[in-house]
Amino acid sequence: MTQQAGNNAADEIAQAVELLTAGELVGMPTETVYGLAGDATNKQAVERIFHLKGRPASHPVIVHLADFHQIEQWAVADMQLIERLAELFWPGPLTLVLPRRDRVLGEVTGGQDSVAVRVPAHPLALRLLAAFGCGVAAPSANRYGRISPTRAEHVRREFGDQLKLVLDGGSCEVGLESTILSLVKDPEILRPGRVSAEELSEVMDRPVSLSNQLRQRAPGLVARHYAPLTPTELVASDELEERVSELLSGTRFGLITCDKSQLPERPGLELIHLGSSPTLYARELYAAMRRLDRLDLERILIEAPPAEPAWVSIRDRLRRASTAP
Ligand code: TXA
Ligand code: MG
Repeated sequence: MTQQAGNNAADEIAQAVELLTAGELVGMPTETVYGLAGDATNKQAVERIFHLKGRPASHPVIVHLADFHQIEQWAVADMQLIERLAELFWPGPLTLVLPRRDRVLGEVTGGQDSVAVRVPAHPLALRLLAAFGCGVAAPSANRYGRISPTRAEHVRREFGDQLKLVLDGGSCEVGLESTILSLVKDPEILRPGRVSAEELSEVMDRPVSLSNQLRQRAPGLVARHYAPLTPTELVASDELEERVSELLSGTRFGLITCDKSQLPERPGLELIHLGSSPTLYARELYAAMRRLDRLDLERILIEAPPAEPAWVSIRDRLRRASTAP
């Protein structure tokens, strides 16, 4: 991990706790992406999150905890199973959706009967959560529908003066949002992430698969999300050369590749090669999309990564990023 905790980390944590206690919001690094954090028990704070993000109130937010034992305050759960999952995956990039306790604010659950919880792995997040002592609601710290932030500067650029404090935890190690596992009925994955279906199936001792909704999603119907403002399209490796040659000469466009053999050269091309390791690709993807998006290009092409299990979560995000608005 490339965290620069800095000399004044203790001061900043204290300041963050003060802001959270006052119902204000703080930019919080996690190992997945940066979060826009607010006191999950404070209605005004949670409303502020939705307002700042421009997010519809029906979209629930994840409650972040320092310690999995705190789950009992938020959710009704089989604590033996939770302990097994926690041993393997927490702190880490897994979110659990569980039946909620009555006391959980409707603003947090989006009016649903369930609540999402997770123990993040970033040392600064854990220090903040431990010092605050209570659950912190934190969606990704981006405006609704846009690319999640993986650096403190992304968060600052997104919200500017509207956010008093962004804890700088360096660049996020995972780079994609957490895996969301729902345990409300039969276990199912609502969002793929670093923790895989295979790993979860093994712990749960039963097959855990992607939710029907995810599996049946036709490309054209996918909700646009995690998206650059520049028109973005996914292109199969073997069609890349042809697609590039179709672009009018003089077109300024970006290209993100994963296969070294596919590196076309052209004037006007901004090329970012992320390589063929899914771990490293995921870590840099959002920063790459953000960088290209700031160059006023006419188009961003992304080479489709291999249809292999290790790329499932990356392909999910790319599909959403390249859906027409
Ligand atoms: O890695 C992450 O999970 C990051 C970091 C900051 O922890 N957070 C994140 O939050 O990605 P957000 O709000 O951008 O995405 C949370 C997702 C949303 O798609 C939301 O619909 C889903 O979690 N979610 C939250 N509560 C839920 C619930 N009770 N039932 C079903 N889905 C839920
Ligand atoms: Mg998000």
